[in-house]
Amino acid sequence: DRGAYPYYMLKEIDEQPAVLHRIQETYLENPAQPAIGADLLAAMKQADQIYIVGAGTSYHAGLVGKELFERLAQVPTQALVASEFAYADPMLSQHPFFIFLTQSGETADSRQVLVRVKEEWHAPSLTITNVENSTLYREATYQLLLKAGPEIAVASTKAYTAQIAVEAVVAKALGMAKQIANAKQFDLQHQLSLAANAIQAIVDDKEEIKQIAHDNLATTRNAFYIGRGVDYFVALEAALKLKEISYIQAEGFASGELKHGTIALIEDQTPVIALLTQKKTAGHTRSNIQEVQSRGARVLRIASQNLAKPGDEIVIPAISELLIPLISVVPAQLLAYYASLERGYNVDQPRNLAKSVTVE
Ligand code: F6R
Repeated sequence: DRGAYPYYMLKEIDEQPAVLHRIQETYLENPAQPAIGADLLAAMKQADQIYIVGAGTSYHAGLVGKELFERLAQVPTQALVASEFAYADPMLSQHPFFIFLTQSGETADSRQVLVRVKEEWHAPSLTITNVENSTLYREATYQLLLKAGPEIAVASTKAYTAQIAVEAVVAKALGMAKQIANAKQFDLQHQLSLAANAIQAIVDDKEEIKQIAHDNLATTRNAFYIGRGVDYFVALEAALKLKEISYIQAEGFASGELKHGTIALIEDQTPVIALLTQKKTAGHTRSNIQEVQSRGARVLRIASQNLAKPGDEIVIPAISELLIPLISVVPAQLLAYYASLERGYNVDQPRNLAKSVTVE
């Protein structure tokens, strides 16, 4: 029931703080000992490499997960597009461990990989899904639930943030079990609380983002999101959100890569939305902003408070750089929502798309 909300998507964006709290309650009752199950932990401890498999938004959550597992648990990790990996000839490590990210638990491309994991590679697997007893839930060795509540809008929002939060829970648990200092020092419980508060502040201020969408995205033909590192991963997700419901041709780019060709597409007034949340790279992305500005781009900046400069259009609270995708994606979700409304589309039911893609 969407209650007073005009669309499920807006309701689901607004639910994200509550989803993070539910994940805390479910998995972090004892913050020092995330509750993910001793068998799962023991299996993951054997892994010399983690392979995270997903499609679309779930793949984008997997990219962020790669950072989490490498930094908190010190396990080399790859994020993989399911439909590609299903037919690849990978050189797997000696002891691979597979994580499947899937909101619906029914995505055929992801299931195709799980079948190979079981029948060909005989490796252990974990499905992280929103739907208990879904196909990928039943068929994996281990399973964890996202606890996001039903996601009805075709464009995925709260499942993305829930996937990142649950990945962080697992990465922290694994890092603790392996006595990794980074994991011990990482106060996940506190960071998730900060993230929930930050998202609440952003959604409470959504009129501001509605105005930005009105001013910048109402008529444009195309748009770009740019960033580096995890900001790039969020740029990919932000662009996917925008294109799937507003039909604006939107792309996410690594900011430094833009000048190697794609910058040719920048015209007078082309919107370029930059993500600036990583200390190491924000300055470099600002240089790339100047490059596109001098070609006429209309630049919007989403910056974390500690890195913001006067004039930055959207400033978000600063939390751990590892988890900031939880909040930097939210203005992008809202921009996509309002761009779709501006253009008069059915936000929840974009053309050509189904909620759950059960064909390869
Ligand atoms: C985008 C979106 C899709 C799904 C993808 C995978 O907003 O919803 O890209 O993320 O089809 O679906 P699941 O997560 O159910 O496997």
